[in-house]
Amino acid sequence: MVCRRSAHSFYKVKFSTDSHAVMPKIHSASSARPDPYKLLAPQLEHLRGTLLNLLGSSHPSLTEIAKYYFLHPSKQLRPLLVLLWSQATNGLGGGWYMKNWAAECEGAGGRAEELDRPLTRPDVLNDWNPNMPDHTASFHNSFSLKTPRPPLQPPLPPPLPSHDAPTLSVSLLPTQIRLAQIVEMIHVASLLHDDVIDVSSLRRGAPSAPAAFGNKLTILAGDFLLGRTSAALSRLGENEVVELIASVIANLVEGEILQLKSVHAEELGLAQTPSVGSENWAIYLQKTYLKTASLMAKGSRAAVVLGGCREGEIYKEVAYAYGRNLGIAFQLVDDILDYEAGESTLGKPGGADLKLGLATGPALFAWEEHPEMGPLIKRKFEQEGDVELARDLVRRSSGVERTRDLARAHADKAREVLAVLPDSDAKGALEVLTERVVKRTW
Ligand code: FPP
Ligand code: MG
Repeated sequence: MVCRRSAHSFYKVKFSTDSHAVMPKIHSASSARPDPYKLLAPQLEHLRGTLLNLLGSSHPSLTEIAKYYFLHPSKQLRPLLVLLWSQATNGLGGGWYMKNWAAECEGAGGRAEELDRPLTRPDVLNDWNPNMPDHTASFHNSFSLKTPRPPLQPPLPPPLPSHDAPTLSVSLLPTQIRLAQIVEMIHVASLLHDDVIDVSSLRRGAPSAPAAFGNKLTILAGDFLLGRTSAALSRLGENEVVELIASVIANLVEGEILQLKSVHAEELGLAQTPSVGSENWAIYLQKTYLKTASLMAKGSRAAVVLGGCREGEIYKEVAYAYGRNLGIAFQLVDDILDYEAGESTLGKPGGADLKLGLATGPALFAWEEHPEMGPLIKRKFEQEGDVELARDLVRRSSGVERTRDLARAHADKAREVLAVLPDSDAKGALEVLTERVVKRTW
């Protein structure tokens, strides 16, 4: 079987060669650090457009809700991280050669068109879907047996070159682009469920999905997204990535339970959270990792795995450490924004966390300076005037400043671990993100 690199392949931007035997050119970083979003703007735009194709279903109303949050502009931070980590490490891992070969070779399982082709026969995978008349099994007839065709022989991989030292490539593999879509779909699924739990009426400045479609359909749309995500995930053909990303879904739920428990332990029949400050901090940071940083950390790590980083190589550890620290910094700053006066930049009213009964970083720090905060936290800011009093205590403390310092410490750690990587535009962009996450200038 002949494998040809498509000269105009979208994913092969700036790729320099047409032969498998020759490794990609080393990409030299420009001296000015690039804007992360500008660096990958076409790729982000493209993946947002093609993502909607993954969400079609035989039920138009389900499709409409599932697509709803994708139609409003979002930061796409999680897909951006996946793409940047791909570009910052592709070519460095021992398995890159084979991954790159699979992305070029039809039948090897890594090409963009192949990722859209189901492994299971379509009438079984899709059951009934009037939008796909050729690939649908009608329920009017009994299902008859079809003798399967013998499987196609997979192409034989070329012999490994012996001489090449690892060199960086700016190629993005189709599997990595698909992973970027998967992490965004999981994020959106979690927001659909979150808006039901938080009874949010607004998201990104528009009516939330529960406000527009009701709770039941919103939850089902989140579940539907997770279903589509699972199929796309398995199609990547990398068990380690399936395991990592599936664990993120569990983490998101664990984080949400931890958050719910801190407010509604009694009515949910769960063990109460402690009232000692230090233990509250431990739970708060754990929750912050689970509900926000896990997806960034494991999504980044999964991107590096898809690029051929093998066990024992440092790059996936770096990606995880970066994503974990950046994610915690991101959520800490998010929690500060909730204390900024009036409408926050997130398009939701300030004080939303306190109204939900949540004591985040600024309140926990303020408690150390103003013991009066303790009883307010304990009674979940439930009494009249509690929210205003708590905001005032935070204002008269260094809570916001200390939370920002903590976010900065995590962001600095994220930047530090990048030192292991060779210089590239992607590495520069990852550095820029560690500064932006604290300043929130996007
Ligand atoms: C937003 O937090 C919510 C999350 C980051 C995670 C929510 C997770 C779940 C509801 C568990 C279910 C998960 C899946 C995958 C179905 P926030 O309320 O602090 O932020 P917001 O202001 O944007 O709502
Ligand atoms: Mg919420």
